[in-house]
Amino acid sequence: VGRRHLDPGGLEPEAILRLEDDRVVFLDQRRLPDEEVELECRTVPEVAEAIRTLAVRGAPSIGVAAAYGLALAAARGDDLDEAARILLAARPTAVNLPWAVAEMRRGDQAPSALAARARELHREEVERCRQMATHAAGLVEPGARALTHCNAGGLATGGYGSAVGALRAAWERGLLEHVFVDETRPLLQGSRLTAWELEQAGIPHAVIADSAAAAMMGRGEVTHVFTGADRIAANGDTANKIGTYALAVLARHHGLPFYVVAPTSTVDLATPTGEEIPIEERDPTEVTRRFTARNPAFDVTPAELITAIVTEQGVHRAPYDASLAGALGVGAAA
Ligand code: MRU
Repeated sequence: VGRRHLDPGGLEPEAILRLEDDRVVFLDQRRLPDEEVELECRTVPEVAEAIRTLAVRGAPSIGVAAAYGLALAAARGDDLDEAARILLAARPTAVNLPWAVAEMRRGDQAPSALAARARELHREEVERCRQMATHAAGLVEPGARALTHCNAGGLATGGYGSAVGALRAAWERGLLEHVFVDETRPLLQGSRLTAWELEQAGIPHAVIADSAAAAMMGRGEVTHVFTGADRIAANGDTANKIGTYALAVLARHHGLPFYVVAPTSTVDLATPTGEEIPIEERDPTEVTRRFTARNPAFDVTPAELITAIVTEQGVHRAPYDASLAGALGVGAAA
């Protein structure tokens, strides 16, 4: 596909994923950065398979994909309860998936209404990213050398990005000097997707092996850590790509701020702590085909290791049960 840029360094939201009359179209993230190829899904099981196999990935993008999947189901005249069931089963950890399905099942279920609602939900997620980025850039001191993990850029959010959006905003304000990109074993979302996005944005960066982060911090080369999130529990415990917890421990040891940037659609007040967050265990062959392996796709960073959580509502600090409930406009649980 031709590159369609939103602004210097960012893909248009519709180039990342979109709804057409009889299909949902994804920029196939499995093929990046070598090839920019679109994947067309004409049925709900195909959309679910695209989510499961990471053709579309990243918590907000998964939610938008599910919303488009439901709109597609309505256009086809499919049973919407069954469509929702298939989409909800695609991946367990990102709460944006059940959040988006619940948003879509409220109100008018006519095909045109659901198509409009899904597109609106997509626009809203991108707008939330822009707002988060503005708040998060306020946390960055001049000369920052940030480290990020996985891909929390426009590809992961349907446009602009959460943690990478924050880095873009800091770069535009002249505060950011350099980004270290964890390669993110085993599926390399960092070295394939984040590096590609930073290259397009013209932001100086270097990919590092995940295991190099400690040494980089120990040498004083890192000043901030920014990551996204797949689900933030009511107490602030945060699930994100496997390896995030290790970075938070390292940041604490080295006295570095560790920031989580995510929209309120990723905050799950119904899940009290990280212990209750379902963690996806993926096919071990993604790690090695030769030996027995384990492949947990996410880990949980305890709230006490998180310096601040940034949503579109602002910068939230501990105690998170109160600050996150405030962000969602509800009273904190007693
Ligand atoms: O398995 P993935 O690639 O879907 O995991 C994605 C992440 O862990 C991201 O950091 C998270 O979804 C935040 S995206 C804004």
